[in-house]
Amino acid sequence: MTDGAPVLRLPLRDEAATHALGRRIAARLRGGDVVALSGGLGMGKTTIARAIIAALGHEGEVPSPSFAIIQTYDPPSVSLPICHADFYRLDDPAEVEELGLDDYRRDAALIAEWPEHAGGFEFDPACLSIRLEPADEGRIAIVKGAKDWQGRMP
Ligand SMILES: Nc1ncnc2c1ncn2[C@@H]1O[C@H](COP(=O)(O)OP(=O)(O)OP(=O)(O)O)[C@@H](O)[C@H]1O
Ligand SMILES: [Mg+2]
Repeated sequence: MTDGAPVLRLPLRDEAATHALGRRIAARLRGGDVVALSGGLGMGKTTIARAIIAALGHEGEVPSPSFAIIQTYDPPSVSLPICHADFYRLDDPAEVEELGLDDYRRDAALIAEWPEHAGGFEFDPACLSIRLEPADEGRIAIVKGAKDWQGRMP
């Protein structure tokens, strides 16, 4: 891509490093943002989502929304409304509308696993795209911020 969007390649040697990335994202997150988490099965998408949601103040379990598809978290238990979605089971991006995603999003930040199954969010100026890939040690995160993320990359 030559659109000038900042791109970072962050080595994540172990699960603790994945948690630390989630905390850095949480510290920079605003309403209306999208954190698009892509990468294969078991690459750590839910791990990052859990770290973000915990860092925003949520105590207790963060279920993987692979069956519910959408799980929301609202203040006061979190400092920012969050919509955590796992689009893996969608067969067609048109189903996103039927889910009522726009109503859930409103002022929330959206954390999206399998974003490509929902048509992708990379053209949203508030999208932080994170692709997780295997590395010799642990994982590598390829992080790309759209316009609204300039100056606040994690
Ligand atoms: N940096 C890392 N290095 C090694 N293992 C890691 C790292 N980060 C997370 N893990 C481990 O990888 C697994 C990731 O599972 P997780 O459920 O987060 O994946 P996922 O991408 O959400 O998978 P799915 O597509 O099935 O939803 C967990 O067992 C976690 O402990
Ligand atoms: Mg997952």
